[in-house]
Amino acid sequence: MTTEQSSKAEAVRLEELWRGDFGDAYVERNKAAGNVRAAFWNEILEEFPARRVLEVGCNMGANLGWIAQKLPPQQVYGIDINLKSLDLLHQNLPQVNGIWSPARELPFRDNWFDMVFTMGVLIHQPESTLPIVMAEIVRCSRRYVLCGEYYAEEKAEVPYRGQTGALFKRNYRRLYEELFPQLKLVKQGFLSQDQGWDDVTYFVFEKQ
Ligand SMILES: C[S@@+](CC[C@H](N)C(=O)[O-])C[C@H]1O[C@@H](n2cnc3c(N)ncnc32)[C@H](O)[C@@H]1O
Repeated sequence: MTTEQSSKAEAVRLEELWRGDFGDAYVERNKAAGNVRAAFWNEILEEFPARRVLEVGCNMGANLGWIAQKLPPQQVYGIDINLKSLDLLHQNLPQVNGIWSPARELPFRDNWFDMVFTMGVLIHQPESTLPIVMAEIVRCSRRYVLCGEYYAEEKAEVPYRGQTGALFKRNYRRLYEELFPQLKLVKQGFLSQDQGWDDVTYFVFEKQ
């Protein structure tokens, strides 16, 4: 197997994981995950006005539900690779656009959104496709990129529900800034479990 083939194989392995029983079990465990996230999204959308928003790895809409209360739901988009989560999104938020797609090939034109974000999704991308996923996010956003992920100064793998190579803490701020010098950091913060996240560090960048 060439290096390119094995890199692709790792991305496909993780995508298969999220598409299958492992991803379905996440949906079952996290049905109440979004209940207390309103305050965060109200603050973000007031500070960074956006008319059309995309979440990459939206699952059942724990973030999109709040965003769709601030924006017309037709302008709210999410992609995910797990069909069970998208079924729930369609049931609960029928006007929101929930679309099946792998994060490394977003089915949108350049600059189509005012804000594109991830919450707990870059951590699940392998080394080989992480820069591709980030490039897709930057490509699709006209203005803001928001990244909420587990932070570590240096890359550290975290064992995740019996899987190896499935969760990495990193300095995502540094990665975005190194790969995309056109991004300028405009906000950062920390989201604890009381706020509906599992100790996530978030960064908001604006395209220059
Ligand atoms: C930990 S969950 C986070 C869900 C949501 N962002 C939130 O804050 O509640 C990760 C989500 O990303 C999706 N995902 C993981 N890797 C993906 C990929 N390569 N392409 C598309 N979706 C992916 C999973 O199916 C899952 O719904």
